[in-house]
Amino acid sequence: MSMMDQDILKVLYTQEEIAARVKVLGEQMYEDFKGKNPLFVSVLRGAFIFMADIVRACQVKSDVEFIAVSSYGNATTSSGAVQITHDIQQDISGRNLVVIEDILDSGNTLSFLKQYFLTKGAASVAICTLLDKPSRRTKVITADYIGFTVPDEFVVGYGLDYCQKYRNLPYIGVLKPEVYSGE
Ligand code: PRP
Repeated sequence: MSMMDQDILKVLYTQEEIAARVKVLGEQMYEDFKGKNPLFVSVLRGAFIFMADIVRACQVKSDVEFIAVSSYGNATTSSGAVQITHDIQQDISGRNLVVIEDILDSGNTLSFLKQYFLTKGAASVAICTLLDKPSRRTKVITADYIGFTVPDEFVVGYGLDYCQKYRNLPYIGVLKPEVYSGE
């Protein structure tokens, strides 16, 4: 057991369960995007691990981009305002985008980004999120591809952080309340 494992209350999805789900999502997206030259856009930082796995699970001719946004800081709830801190590096007009996210929570980030990409001329913007937390939604937005629908618990691992830590856990787990209750 690692030092990080000791901070985990329970494992929600094991490494094997995640891999199996990623494979299914990748195959679905292959069918939907073959011949469409999609552009996968990963939202940093949380989605970087999911992105790396999903693009290999979806063997379609495609390219990748990264965008970084900031809304949470180190707080555990979204402030609502989304700022782009690193933008994509190419013209996306006419492209079929697939935005790769680790979690769809209030919906602030993805509703902002979807509109942003459409304004920049994307032909279509699909959303693929590893985790969906519909109970927390304040914006009207749904994902096209969902890994797992999760309850309103503080989840970390496989890209998801608490104060920038735990992203490198290979599984998704619920953080023990005492780890963050000092905030
Ligand atoms: C998280 C997550 C999403 C966003 C989802 O990012 O990666 O981008 O919050 O929440 P929302 O639906 O309420 O907007 P965070 O700001 O924690 O940054 P990170 O990706 O660097 O962890």
